[in-house]
Amino acid sequence: MWGRETDQDDGVSALPVSMLNALPHPIFMVGPHGDFEFANASAEDFFQTSIAMLKSRRLDWFLPDASPMRTLIEQVQASARPVNEYQVDVSSPRMTGASWVDVYVSPVAEKPGSVVVLLQVRSMAEKLGRQLTHRSAARTVTGLAAMLAHEIKNPLSGIRGAAQLLEAAGNEDDRALTRLITDETDRIVRLVDRMEVFSDERPVERDPVNIHSVLEHVKSLAKSGFARDIEIVELYDPSIPKVMGNRDQLIQVLLNLVKNACEIMAGQSQACLTLTTAFRPGMSVAAQGSSERISLPIEVTVQDNGPGIPDDMQSDMFDPFVTSKTNGSGLGLALVAKIIGDHGGVISCDSAPGATVFKILMPTWTGRKEI
Ligand SMILES: Nc1ncnc2c1ncn2[C@@H]1O[C@H](COP(=O)(O)OP(=O)(O)OP(=O)(O)O)[C@@H](O)[C@H]1O
Ligand SMILES: [Mg+2]
Repeated sequence: MWGRETDQDDGVSALPVSMLNALPHPIFMVGPHGDFEFANASAEDFFQTSIAMLKSRRLDWFLPDASPMRTLIEQVQASARPVNEYQVDVSSPRMTGASWVDVYVSPVAEKPGSVVVLLQVRSMAEKLGRQLTHRSAARTVTGLAAMLAHEIKNPLSGIRGAAQLLEAAGNEDDRALTRLITDETDRIVRLVDRMEVFSDERPVERDPVNIHSVLEHVKSLAKSGFARDIEIVELYDPSIPKVMGNRDQLIQVLLNLVKNACEIMAGQSQACLTLTTAFRPGMSVAAQGSSERISLPIEVTVQDNGPGIPDDMQSDMFDPFVTSKTNGSGLGLALVAKIIGDHGGVISCDSAPGATVFKILMPTWTGRKEI
């Protein structure tokens, strides 16, 4: 049974096929010679053709010789190992629709030479585009941060010193006001200190880092403070190799994500934070400005069951100063994006009411200390 067809002539039961047809992602199976062995309804839309046409044509009719998707499929047919690639160009004279997709190709154990292909049109490619924007947003803050450090911190220390002198000479009412001045100046200094991180353009010192020990540390910090009443579920892949990273900075990243999740779930009944790790050997992204692909097989996710991120905030939440909190600085996620970018990794977010997931992809340790 194929795509939108209703007959069941090839022994495939109706339920899984109708499930596959319900998915918004094109899924198809290609045989050893590039012939289509199965295609769901979304694949029919993707190839802009009918099932009958797909049955009678081979993949090379739809995609040109040099198509990266064909190369990927052939690679999986030859190696019998799954491969995932982001931002693959599928533009073709025969198809006027989607041109960039994320491709997941897996061999079919029971049918040697056949592979199953799942396409995700837009999502990750779009997110990567956003990720690059986050990096440039973080960079625009760089100059500002350096300027603030000089132009604000120095006068602030003068103001603070003067307030302390007045405090010594004043009565109780005056002291309440001078304390207000010192507390507020301290708050501004803390804010400027946080921003100073953005002006640090030095390459990151990276070592082999055990991501589970980072998560353990973040969890114990969180449990002793803002996550005291929140259930934390850990789903870890114990066989995961070391991450190539800076331990302190990775703690900062995960702490910011966990803190955001806990803040948004504060007071919620059955608040639950889920931390996961996984090893995804086929995961890679295109290196900026070259055709080289960087392997990012280590996946870490931070998930909460809070209300979700409003749609209009999702596109710019990684920019500095974007916040929905009265006392928030809006620097948490900007810093996360900068650090992950400095590490050559990728961060993306999927959010809906009841499920917000921040996903980080990172490189493994290769023996080189700096980027
Ligand atoms: N897990 C989440 N669920 C819902 N909204 C979130 C989540 N994480 C972040 N946000 C939204 O994104 C905004 C920006 O987050 P970010 O960490 O950059 O700043 P902040 O938390 O407001 O302030 P700061 O981190 O500087 O204290 C938050 O104000 C919040 O509205
Ligand atoms: Mg935050």
